[in-house]
Amino acid sequence: MSIHNENIRRVTTQRLMEMKKRGEKISMLTAYDYTMGNIVDNAGIDIILVGDSASNVMCGHTTTLPITLDQMIFLAKSVVRGVKRALVVVDMPFGSYQGNSKEALASAIRIMKETHCDCLKLEGGEEIIESVKRILSAGIPVMGHLGLMPQSINKYGSYTVRAQKEAEAEKLMRDAHLLEEAGCSGIVLEKIPAKLAKQVASELTIPVIGIGAGNGVDGQVLVLHDMIGLTQDFSPRFLRRYANLQEIMNEAIEHYVADVKSGDFPSDMEQY
Ligand code: KIV
Repeated sequence: MSIHNENIRRVTTQRLMEMKKRGEKISMLTAYDYTMGNIVDNAGIDIILVGDSASNVMCGHTTTLPITLDQMIFLAKSVVRGVKRALVVVDMPFGSYQGNSKEALASAIRIMKETHCDCLKLEGGEEIIESVKRILSAGIPVMGHLGLMPQSINKYGSYTVRAQKEAEAEKLMRDAHLLEEAGCSGIVLEKIPAKLAKQVASELTIPVIGIGAGNGVDGQVLVLHDMIGLTQDFSPRFLRRYANLQEIMNEAIEHYVADVKSGDFPSDMEQY
């Protein structure tokens, strides 16, 4: 991890483990650019995720599948420049780690070398465990992601709650243990029953961060643009909107357009 300012105690994967041990909840949000990364970091977040949800939020795609390794690296580099304290986790995009663990390691090394982030996140359990192990063997911290895995949307066909049936819940629990035993630093659980998520968090010693997984886990993650109301078309039950920035921006932009049209902007004081 690069220490830019020695006065700031950075969040590390070890510190996250300590937080879990003492029962301190972990806060995590996404960011995809320098300015947002800087704002979120200054507000005291523990983990910043450069999520592949950038494919939806930043690029307007309907799934996370199209975003490329080069695009994720570009976004992550920008975020890392704005962050002094939080742990920066970067999503490995679809196609950069599944199927071939050597290619997975090559993708992981590129992300680490070029972005200077702290940790990588991969979706899946048993199916990708060879990739996870190979990446970990290079000393790169890994966070798992189970439950709703948006990169597998074409396999499941919908974004509904996962692991409601016993067989899927059992597999999720097995995968969670597998990821912990391999050496992962944490796991994100997306959109699964709260009872199951609580059970996973209590059986594992590594931090379990939930999104739509209830309050019995070790921390929470949300997509920043959703929780501050920049996006309005996505309203799952688990989302709490803390602001309506889309409304504030609309008002400001309409005001600006009106001022330009009327000739009110710029004033004498706003010119040279
Ligand atoms: O890409 C992302 O934003 C994520 C979160 C939803 C956890 O993976």
